[in-house]
Amino acid sequence: MCGIVGYCGSRRVVPVILEGLRRLEYRGYDSAGIVYLQDGKLIKHRSEGKLSRLEAIIGDAIIAPAHIGLGHTRWATHGAPTTANAHPHSDCSGNLVVIHNGIIENYHSLREELKDKGHIFTSQTDTEVLAHLIEEYLENDLVAAVKKAIARVEGSYALGVLWAGMPDALVAVRNQSPLVLGVSEHEGTFLASDIPALLPYTKEVIFMDDMELAILKADGHQIFSLVTGLPVEKKVTTIDWNPAMAEKAGFKHFMLKEIFEEPQAITNTVSGRINPETGEVVLPEIGLTAADLADIDRIFLVACGTSWHAALVAKYWIEKYANIPVEVDIASEFRYRHLLINKRVLTISISQSGETADTLAGIRIAKEMGAKIITICNVVGSTMTREAHGTVYTHAGPEIGVASTKAFVSQLAALFLFTLYLAQKKQTISRELGLELGQELIGIAGVVERELPRLQKEIEHLIESYYDCRDFLFVGRSLNYPIALEGALKLKEISYIHAEGYASGELKHGPIALIDKDMPVLALVPQDEVYQKSISNVEEIKARQGRIILIGTEGDSHLRTITDDVIYLPKVHSAMNPILYTIPAQLLAYAIATKRGCDVDQPRNLAKSVTVE
Ligand code: AGP
Repeated sequence: MCGIVGYCGSRRVVPVILEGLRRLEYRGYDSAGIVYLQDGKLIKHRSEGKLSRLEAIIGDAIIAPAHIGLGHTRWATHGAPTTANAHPHSDCSGNLVVIHNGIIENYHSLREELKDKGHIFTSQTDTEVLAHLIEEYLENDLVAAVKKAIARVEGSYALGVLWAGMPDALVAVRNQSPLVLGVSEHEGTFLASDIPALLPYTKEVIFMDDMELAILKADGHQIFSLVTGLPVEKKVTTIDWNPAMAEKAGFKHFMLKEIFEEPQAITNTVSGRINPETGEVVLPEIGLTAADLADIDRIFLVACGTSWHAALVAKYWIEKYANIPVEVDIASEFRYRHLLINKRVLTISISQSGETADTLAGIRIAKEMGAKIITICNVVGSTMTREAHGTVYTHAGPEIGVASTKAFVSQLAALFLFTLYLAQKKQTISRELGLELGQELIGIAGVVERELPRLQKEIEHLIESYYDCRDFLFVGRSLNYPIALEGALKLKEISYIHAEGYASGELKHGPIALIDKDMPVLALVPQDEVYQKSISNVEEIKARQGRIILIGTEGDSHLRTITDDVIYLPKVHSAMNPILYTIPAQLLAYAIATKRGCDVDQPRNLAKSVTVE
């Protein structure tokens, strides 16, 4: 939920930290702070609000002759987003500071214990407890003090520590919150919550694992296990994202850039995984043997938010083509219900970040119960990918906009790949059908690429009479029902309009009472197997003076007899409609939100990765 950055090396540290925080602001942006060591003293600047306010406070100190420091951009979990609660937090001496991403679950009892020992607290945060706890154990060995403090702590943390008594090193600890090191022979050593902060300086990264402690120095690093106390050798991963990919590339917002990246994201996700001649799907990282596959008699899909909508689509595909029963769970519900899981159940998490706390907790429970775990994920080396038995990466590249777009369509592509893989292994589809579906998936990226510019123009015109609505309904049937849910989520999370998604057939069971001349309804009505039923539902809305937007198949002139507001899409295989029909829904949400002057990339109250429960 927060972004942390650390650096020690030859560069001036303040600009490095600020640039890193700027690239991590999507992880949380209600307050920010920085600390660096200059002439033996820790200099700290903090502010509430966005990073720009911190930069204004720092002013000329940006050229401070300092080469080691930490920075933090916050998404509040304990304590309001104020300057006093902004990280870094100091101990009583002022010679030790910490930055933290996660939740210290036993902070209250620790805080009381430390107050009884005379520690004075200046914030309402759980994080500040860590600074005082380390101080309590600190004599002349910071690493030993951090280890003792961590042994007392329950909860999740990605931690950075800087002590004036050890001026040439940072200490970092990771447990259940993401933490990645950047290593470079010439630039020094970096610490960050996520990859984009590192890209201007290095593409060589090390993903820390839970209960690991790192010592970072200008000329190198060491990593230890907090379980064994022994040094651990970690793999260095080369990231193929360039800094530009994490920039806006000329678009007004990351979200629009990422919508227009969707054709490439789909192509990157599919390429190398389907033999275009035979249709055979290969998923080398899936981690399932033929025996595992033969043994599977049920699949659980577990996810949150937009990723859960992808799971809902996958249920239709897997049951239809692979003939395996699928249950779809919202992760925060999955982890608390009585689960009937055994080794014959395959549990799949779907997550852009690979760090969503509820989803991560869900797969840990399923794994303990003997299930095989696969994750569909966009971030190489993220926690879920390291805890699952197998992975199907979505190669969407960094998704900075809080509203997930290219990651979602990439999740759909990856899930369809997985469906074909399963169906081919279990021989539930013919070679011909496998080839046809594989070619449809390969081709959908080109359809999206061709249609995007036209769709953007048509939708920007269309929203003129809808952007000031207070409510919106999205309806769809079968494979398009989850896309109705996704369209509603996109609109509500970036434009703050109340929007709900429904199965079209569900309208007459209550929601149709909402329909009147002020209630806009966007209906997804491709000419697919349920087209006639969908049109009947739309006629019911029309009969009650509902304002209707139709997204349908080009050439379907009947749609214009129902409403003037029709967006046409090319006819594709009905299995591909969820990918194609998502695009106008995303563009509609983006156009309305920008027209309303909303902060599209960093909507209020949200963060890109929900790494706390
Ligand atoms: C998507 O637009 C939302 N920002 C949110 O629902 C997101 O999909 C959800 O938090 C899950 O995140 P994940 O895919 O990283 O697990």
